[in-house]
Amino acid sequence: MSVEQRPEIVTLMAERGSFDPPAAFAARANATPALYDEANADFEAFWAREARERVDWETPFHTTLKWELPFAEWFVGGRLNISYNCLDRHVERGLGDKVAYHWIGEPGDTRTFTFRDLLVEVARCANALKELGVGQGDRVAIYLPMIPELPIAMLACARIGAPHTVVFGGFSAEALAGRINDAEAKVLITADGGYRRGNIVPLKQSADQAMQETPTVERCIVVRRTGHEVPMTAGRDLWWDDVVERQAAECPPVWVDSEHMLYLLYTSGTTARPKGIVHTTGGYLVGTSVTHHYIFDIKPDDVFWCAADIGWVTGHSYIVYAPLANATTGIIYEGAPDTPAWDRWWQIVEDYKVTILYTAPTAIRAFMKQGEAWPAKHDLGSLRLLGTVGEPINPEAWLWYHLNIGGERCPVVDTWWQTETGMILITPLPGITRTKPGSATFPFPGVGAAVLDSTGQPVGPGGGGYLVLTRPYPAMLRGIYKDPERYRQTYWTRFDGTYFTGDGARLDTDGYFWLLGRVDDVMNVAGHRISTIEVESALVDHPAVAESAVVGKTDPVVGQAIFAYVILKAGRQPSDELAVELREHVAKVIGPIAKPKHLMFAPDLPKTRSGKIMRRLLRDIAEGRALGDTTTLADAGVVETIRTESGREED
Ligand code: PRX
Repeated sequence: MSVEQRPEIVTLMAERGSFDPPAAFAARANATPALYDEANADFEAFWAREARERVDWETPFHTTLKWELPFAEWFVGGRLNISYNCLDRHVERGLGDKVAYHWIGEPGDTRTFTFRDLLVEVARCANALKELGVGQGDRVAIYLPMIPELPIAMLACARIGAPHTVVFGGFSAEALAGRINDAEAKVLITADGGYRRGNIVPLKQSADQAMQETPTVERCIVVRRTGHEVPMTAGRDLWWDDVVERQAAECPPVWVDSEHMLYLLYTSGTTARPKGIVHTTGGYLVGTSVTHHYIFDIKPDDVFWCAADIGWVTGHSYIVYAPLANATTGIIYEGAPDTPAWDRWWQIVEDYKVTILYTAPTAIRAFMKQGEAWPAKHDLGSLRLLGTVGEPINPEAWLWYHLNIGGERCPVVDTWWQTETGMILITPLPGITRTKPGSATFPFPGVGAAVLDSTGQPVGPGGGGYLVLTRPYPAMLRGIYKDPERYRQTYWTRFDGTYFTGDGARLDTDGYFWLLGRVDDVMNVAGHRISTIEVESALVDHPAVAESAVVGKTDPVVGQAIFAYVILKAGRQPSDELAVELREHVAKVIGPIAKPKHLMFAPDLPKTRSGKIMRRLLRDIAEGRALGDTTTLADAGVVETIRTESGREED
């Protein structure tokens, strides 16, 4: 089925009116329509002006953009340090006592860091890394819960020019080991554990398991968070308290080239092997801080809460680098939204007078399910702007958020972007854009996006197709780590010379962009990208499994739930116990986020005569809808058998 025919389009296009920016908001907004005019006239000049005004360069850049498709270099010749831009310069300008982070632990403990405090901690951590032999260009892996040491460790790496690779704490030991090995990290920073729903996530245990297979890791720094006992390997493991806290409180920033690698972040693609997305320094800082300033309308007294995990790109860009670069006070909450009860977030908004909240549709739908009584118990009057990211937001969730959280006074910005883009690319500008619930509206000033049909022709207003990006922009990925060929193949060949996002989109008759989800074999589960093939490989890795096929099934809360079809090896019998075991196996190999919600034992899979699994038929079966074209099926009986089985399982 082509993207033009996808049924979600119909649902998403059921428009629920539109919302003009409130006049009072518009009158004070950072963004004005002139921004679009300026960027349209000359997008390079627009970015160059922002780069000069917003960033402190040790050496100014001489060339804004060097573009040798598909490789971009931004702000060439410039030298800077991103931790200097996030910390030192604010302290030097008298903002040392301003709060950088209010941190709230899940059990209720809190910590507050001013910009000066953060600078000291970052300097200490950077000195510790240097003592352990980490130098410019060496990679450091970070596997931490949502505690202040996470941004501190990232900034410490950046301070000495050592690229970090943060691995989300929900990933398994195997996933961690794979990422460490691809990055060839020299040091791993982890914790004894973290809190999640009152339980301890045993990070050190996973780290120990991972480090059995990571020959490059020389030292491991362990933050004490939970205080429970964990084994420490002599000569390799060191407590953070022992190695960081005794260091000098000053560490000069290492000035790096604008194109120096800032970090690697692994993301799922259409193969089982995650891609190491490369982000560099100057362009990333400019792209993230500019979008943060205009899209979130940041004012000096704002309290900004991006409720993502720092382990994902959203947290890298909009919890750590952009807000700190813009000297913004931020919130970091360690735990789950329902601990101890479903109003934990609203209590935080009330306590800290949060003014801007940025979260994912999956969280909004989870809150929606619990009812509006939870937010209604709290004073949310401090909020003035709301944002969403990570997946298409259904208009119902948008309207619920607008009404029950935003009290109908807060503009909602639905922001589209990716790990690869580093920064928000398609978004309303609050104060300017008339929003339509469910649409991310228009490209940010200077950004080029288009919707193409399968032959590569732009679709007109009202048309649907594939979302592409038509111009370089400062925070774009610089490649896939150590694999330029895969970089070209993945992004630049579907439409020759144009970046293909992997997403379907539609333009309405007013030119608004409506994002329709992935068109490749990548699922979006609760706003997280997981490839079908990764889950399939994890299943086949189990001794009982002969073959498997995984598809996303529409889910009212998480967007897409993982649906796995499993074919057992001869002699193995399906059972509920085995289904549980297989789910746990996937959690062990990839992490709990990838555990299939639905798992079905099937006698066989629908295949074409050439042996290719017909996933779209499996999707049809999972969704319980009429089957599409079955004429290319090698054995038509197979789908009928699965369909009958599937019906049985759902009962
Ligand atoms: O499919 C799009 C979806 O999330 C994908 C990117 O996932 P990831 O790299 O994990 O980054 C997520 C956070 C930036 C996209 O290809 N996506 C992201 N934002 C939106 C979205 N889909 C629809 N609307 C959005 N606002």
